[in-house]
Amino acid sequence: MEDALSIENLSFSIGGKMVFENISFSIKKGSFAILCGRNGAGKSQLLRCLKGLSKPKSGKILINGTEADEKKRMREIALVFQSAEMQIVSQSVEKDVAFGPENLGLDKGEIERRVENALALMDLKDKAQQRPQTLSGGEMRKCAIAGILAMEPNVILLDEPFANLDYPSTLSVLKALLSLHEKGYTVLTVTHEAEKFIAHTDTLLIMEEGRIVERGNSPEIYGKLRDHGIYLPKNAEFKELSWLRQ
Ligand SMILES: Nc1ncnc2c1ncn2[C@@H]1O[C@H](COP(=O)(O)OP(=O)(O)OP(=O)(O)O)[C@@H](O)[C@H]1O
Ligand SMILES: [Mg+2]
Repeated sequence: MEDALSIENLSFSIGGKMVFENISFSIKKGSFAILCGRNGAGKSQLLRCLKGLSKPKSGKILINGTEADEKKRMREIALVFQSAEMQIVSQSVEKDVAFGPENLGLDKGEIERRVENALALMDLKDKAQQRPQTLSGGEMRKCAIAGILAMEPNVILLDEPFANLDYPSTLSVLKALLSLHEKGYTVLTVTHEAEKFIAHTDTLLIMEEGRIVERGNSPEIYGKLRDHGIYLPKNAEFKELSWLRQ
């Protein structure tokens, strides 16, 4: 399978301080990948660089094997922020999801098709007319995800998609991510909560102090999470590491 996203020797610094250095990895098309690491490791800044919100100091970013400049990355890579409410701009869920495709200048019929599809995928059809500010935390995150789906991105990046969610909302967002994965989207999730869903992922990356220190197939290397200060329940087998027990 072709690589959806490849990063070659990517470095980034802020105010003379190196945030990450010489990062290289690739993610296959249709992968469900997870990126873990301690607070301050550089995960969020890496996502911002991939999306095109911050400018790397050096290195290359490729989408489907072709080097992608900032403009292309802005269009083809979607990022769901940790605070989903920051991403919500409109007066109804439906209008909010339509906002991205409208900005792309698509025609009305195409916008309607995309909005309907995204709302259906996130199970938000019955909330289409609701004000986003009145959604629950989990619904709001799903609304933010629906908004980026309507842009039909090549790659979806999520920063802490389960933060502040209760058990039912976590399950609901997790099911939504799995349905994207089943539809063939390439998904990279930054999280401190590997034990909630790593069983569903195929690719694991671990970051320490601005470097990728482990990368490989999740079922093969998940035990290494412990070596890097990341919680795993004792004696848990890989397939048990999901809140949606398989
Ligand atoms: N605007 C900034 N100015 C200076 N330093 C910054 C800035 N933004 C991030 N940093 C530093 O870059 C490093 C990486 O930050 P980043 O937000 O990527 O960490 P993270 O891995 O996402 O951590 P967390 O798990 O806590 O979210 C941190 O040391 C942080 O203090
Ligand atoms: Mg972060």
